[in-house]
Amino acid sequence: MKREKLRAVIIGFGNVGRKMAMMLTEEAGQYPGLDGLDLQPVAIFTGRHGGVASAGGIDLMKALKQYREKGSFPEAPMAVLQALETMDYDVLVELSTLDIKKRGEPAISHVRAALRRGKHAVTANKGPAAFAYRELSDLARRRKVRFLFESAVMDGAPVFSLGRTLKGVRVTGFSGIFNTTTNYVLSRLEAGESMAEAVRTAQRLGFAESDPSLDLDGWDAAAKTAILANVFLDAGIDPLQVERRGIRELTPEAAARAATAGKRFKLVCRAWREDGRVRAEVRPQEVGAGHCFAAVNGRAAALRLEFDMLGPLWIMEEDPDLMDTAAGVLQDLLVITTDD
Ligand SMILES: NC(=O)c1ccc[n+]([C@@H]2O[C@H](COP(=O)([O-])OP(=O)(O)OC[C@H]3O[C@@H](n4cnc5c(N)ncnc54)[C@H](OP(=O)(O)O)[C@@H]3O)[C@@H](O)[C@H]2O)c1
Repeated sequence: MKREKLRAVIIGFGNVGRKMAMMLTEEAGQYPGLDGLDLQPVAIFTGRHGGVASAGGIDLMKALKQYREKGSFPEAPMAVLQALETMDYDVLVELSTLDIKKRGEPAISHVRAALRRGKHAVTANKGPAAFAYRELSDLARRRKVRFLFESAVMDGAPVFSLGRTLKGVRVTGFSGIFNTTTNYVLSRLEAGESMAEAVRTAQRLGFAESDPSLDLDGWDAAAKTAILANVFLDAGIDPLQVERRGIRELTPEAAARAATAGKRFKLVCRAWREDGRVRAEVRPQEVGAGHCFAAVNGRAAALRLEFDMLGPLWIMEEDPDLMDTAAGVLQDLLVITTDD
C-alpha cells in the first residue's frame, strides 16, 4: 500500500495524543487499516511538560518512550505559534484541552494559524468547532485544506463523515446523549448511589475528571451540541448559547421515582429550527423505557438525526474508550491522505 508521509505538528500529548502515537507505532500491527498512514511529527508540544521540534522529523516511538520514562519532554525549543507559523508541515493535530472560560482558546488560534498557512487541521478538542466553526471552516475552504474534528463528538463514530456522504439531504434537527460521564453517573444514581458517591465511582474507574464540573454542569454536552448545530444546521452558535441544565440536582430518590414510572433520567441534547433560528438545549429528561435513549446504558452515547428527505437515522456507540477517540483522529488523518 502506498504510504503518504504527513508531516505533523502535534499539540497535546496527553491520553489521546499518546494513544494515537501507540496505535501508530507499538500497536501498528493490530490495525492494518492504518498501513497507508505515515505520520511524521516535526514538533510535539504539551502545555506544562515541554516539547520537541526537529525540521528533519521526530521518531514517534522514541518520543513516546522518552515521555513515558521522564514524564515530560525537555523545555520546548520554540513557542507553539512560532512552530505553526514557521515550520514545514502538512497537518496540525490539535489534542489540547477545552477551556470554556477562554472560549476555546488557545486551540482556535492554533487551528487558525495552521489553516492560514494552507495546512490541514485535525482536532479532538471541541473548542474550535464549538466556538469558531464558521470562521475556521470558511478559512479551510478558501485555503483548500481540511478542518476535521470527528472525535470531538462521539469519539471515532462516523458522525461528521456520515454528514459528508449524504448528498442533497438536509438535517432538520437532532437529539442525543453525548456525555458518557453523566450517562454513567445517572446509571449509578439508579443503582441507589448519591451524586457524590456516583461521581467518586466514575473518578475511580477513570471515567470522570478530578474536576467533573465540565460534565456535571452540562458544558461538555453543550459544546458537542453547539458543534453539531453548527455543522448540520448552520447555527453559528457557541456553547454559551445552548440552553443548559446539568445533572447536579438529580437524586437517587428522583431516579427511583422515575424507575417506578418505567422511566430513566438521561442528559438529553437537542437542536431544532424555530421561527427562523436554531434553538439548542441540554437538560436532564425522563425518557420512557421504550424510547431508544433508555437503551443508552453506562458509558454509551447516541445521536438521532432528522432529515428533510430521509427518515430519522441513529448512531450509537457502546462503551467508547481512548482507542475510539484516537481512532477518530486517525480517520481524519486518513481523510486527508486519501482525499475522500
Ligand atoms: N479522553 C477522551 O476520551 C476524549 C474523548 C473525546 C475528545 N477528547 C478531547 O481530546 C483532547 C485531548 O484529550 P486528552 O484526554 O488527551 O487530554 P489530556 O490527557 O488532559 O491531555 C491534554 C494535552 O494537551 C496539552 N495542553 C493543554 N493545554 C495546552 C496548550 N495551551 N498548549 C499546548 N498543549 C496543551 C497538555 O499538556 P500538559 O499535560 O503539559 O498540560 C496535554 O499534553 C481534549 O480536548 C478532549 O476534550 C478526549
